Amino acid sequence: MISHQALGYWVRPVRLGCGLLLFAYLVTHFANHALGLVSLHAMEAARLWFLALWRNPLGETALLGALLAHWLLGLWLIYRRRTLRMPVWEATQIILGLTVPPLLAYHIVGTRVANAMYGSQDLYARVILGLSLQNPAAGILQAGLLTVAWTHGCMGLHYWLRFRPWYSRVFPALFAVFVLMPVLASLGIVEAVREVSALARQPDFVARLMTETHAASTAQMATLARLRDALVTIAWGLLAATLVARTVREQLSWRRARIRIHYPDGRQVPIPVGWTVLEASRSALIPHLSVCGGRGRCSTCRIRVAGDLALDPPTAQELAVLQRIAAAPDVRLACQLRPTRDLAVTPLLPAIRTVASERAPRDALGGRERQIAVLFADIRGFTKIAENKLPYDVVFLLNRYFEAVGSAVAEAGGIANQYTGDGVMALFGVSTNLETACRQALVASSVMIRRVAELSRELENELPTPLRIGIGIHAGSAVVGEIGYGATHYLTAVGDTVNTASRLETLTKQYGCDLVVSELVSERAGLGDVNFPRHDIRVRNREAPLRIAIIDDVRRLAGHLGLAGTTI
Ligand code: FES
Repeated sequence: MISHQALGYWVRPVRLGCGLLLFAYLVTHFANHALGLVSLHAMEAARLWFLALWRNPLGETALLGALLAHWLLGLWLIYRRRTLRMPVWEATQIILGLTVPPLLAYHIVGTRVANAMYGSQDLYARVILGLSLQNPAAGILQAGLLTVAWTHGCMGLHYWLRFRPWYSRVFPALFAVFVLMPVLASLGIVEAVREVSALARQPDFVARLMTETHAASTAQMATLARLRDALVTIAWGLLAATLVARTVREQLSWRRARIRIHYPDGRQVPIPVGWTVLEASRSALIPHLSVCGGRGRCSTCRIRVAGDLALDPPTAQELAVLQRIAAAPDVRLACQLRPTRDLAVTPLLPAIRTVASERAPRDALGGRERQIAVLFADIRGFTKIAENKLPYDVVFLLNRYFEAVGSAVAEAGGIANQYTGDGVMALFGVSTNLETACRQALVASSVMIRRVAELSRELENELPTPLRIGIGIHAGSAVVGEIGYGATHYLTAVGDTVNTASRLETLTKQYGCDLVVSELVSERAGLGDVNFPRHDIRVRNREAPLRIAIIDDVRRLAGHLGLAGTTI
C-alpha cells in the first residue's frame, strides 16, 4: 500500500508531467490555428498531421489520461491544503486551472465526442462556421478556454523553471513564445473566419459542408448538449465536493491534538497535527517567504528549529533541497515539515512584502543561484592615509572615493552593493549573461582606477601619497538575493565565488598589481589569448588549483576591451 508521504511525494511530479503533455498539445493546437494566416486549406492540411499525432489510440489515451490526472490530482492538492491563504500568483494559477475542465467540456463534446458518437467531422471550416457565424457565444467561450488554458500552462512552466540557473537566459525567448503563440493562433483564426464567411456567402456552401461533415442533427445536438451539461455539472460538482470535504476534514482536525508553533517575536500559533510550519505561518498571517509556493523547490521558506530535533526525517525531496544549500542539521523547509509536537522556529529569510518581492525570481529578491562576476576593490594603505586625518576628513575622502568607484561600476552595468570601510564589492551579471558580466567587470575596473587617479590629482594637497586601489574579479555561480532586516535590505551575493573574488583582491598586494582576475573571467571576457602573467593558486573548497591572470597596469586592458582612445 502506498504511504501517505510517498503519495504526497509523487503527486506533484506526476501532475507536472501531465501538465507538460497538455502544454505540448496546446502548442501544436495553436500552431495549427496559426496556419490560418496562410490559408484555410493550410490549416486543414496541418490538421491531418495534428490528428495523426493526437487522435490515435496511444495519443488519445495519453491525452485523456493526462487531462484527468492533472485535474484530479489538482483537486487532491486542494483537498490536502490546510489553509486556502496563499500568494496571489498561486491563487490565480489554481483558479485558472479549475476553470479549464468545465470550459473544455463544450469543446470536447462539440468535436471529439460528436465525432465518436455520430461520425461528425470537425473540419476547421465547420468548427469555425459554428463558433463564429452560427453560435458566436460558443466562440467567445472557446476563446476564453484557450486563453485560460494557455495562461495556466505558461504560469505553471514559469513557476516550475524559474529556479534553474539558466532560466534567466532563456526567459526573454520563452516569454516571446508565451505571448506570440496565442497572438498568432488568434490571428490565424480571424483570417480563417474571414475566409469561411466569404465561402458561406456562396449558395449551398453551408448545406454542403454540413452534409459532407455529417453534422449532428437537431436531436443529436440535444443529446450532445445534455452530455455537455452533465460534464460541466460533474466538473463543478467535483470541485464543490472537494472544498466541502476539505472544510469537514479541517473542522475534524481541529478537534484532534493541537500543537503550538512558537515564532521569534513571541507569537504562538496553534495548529492541528498534520499542518506544515508554512501553513501555520500563513494561517496566522505571519509573513513567511515561500517563493515556490510551498512546493519544496526553492528553500526560501527554510527555518531553524530550536531544541527538539526529534522530528520526522525529511522526505527525499526536502533532503535534496537541504543538501543543495548545505543546510545545518537544525534547518528544515517550513513547507515540508509537519511537526507532531510544540516547536520553536525561526524563519531564516526575510519575507519582504513589496511588489518587487512578488517578482522575486526575476529580480533575485528571493535568493537565486546565478552565474555572475564579483568584483572586490580596496584602497592600498588606507589606514595609514587616514591615520593623521580628522574623522570628518576621512568621511569626506571616503565619500569622494565611493562616488568615483560606484559611478564606474554603475556606468559599466554593475551594482556596487557593499561599501565596507574602504572596500567595495560589486556584482555584474544579475540581469545579463556571464560573458557580458565579465567584460563589464573589467571595464568597470579600468574606469575605477582612472577615476581614483583623477581623484588623487584633485586632492593632491590633502593626500600624503596618491590613492591606489587593488581589484580582484572572479566569476561563477553564487546565490544572489536581498538580505537585511526591517526596512533595510540590499542585494548581495553569497558563495565561494564571492569569497574567491575577495581573496584575489588581497593578492594584488602580493603581486603589486592593479588587478587579479581568474582565468574564467579573462576567458569569458574574450581575453583568454592575451599574454598576462598567469599563476596557479590554491583556494578553499576547491580541489584543483585556480589559474589567475595578473594585470599590473589596467591600461593594458584598454585595447582588448575596445576602450582604446579613452584615457585609462
Ligand atoms: S516554499 Fe519553496 S521550498 Fe518551501
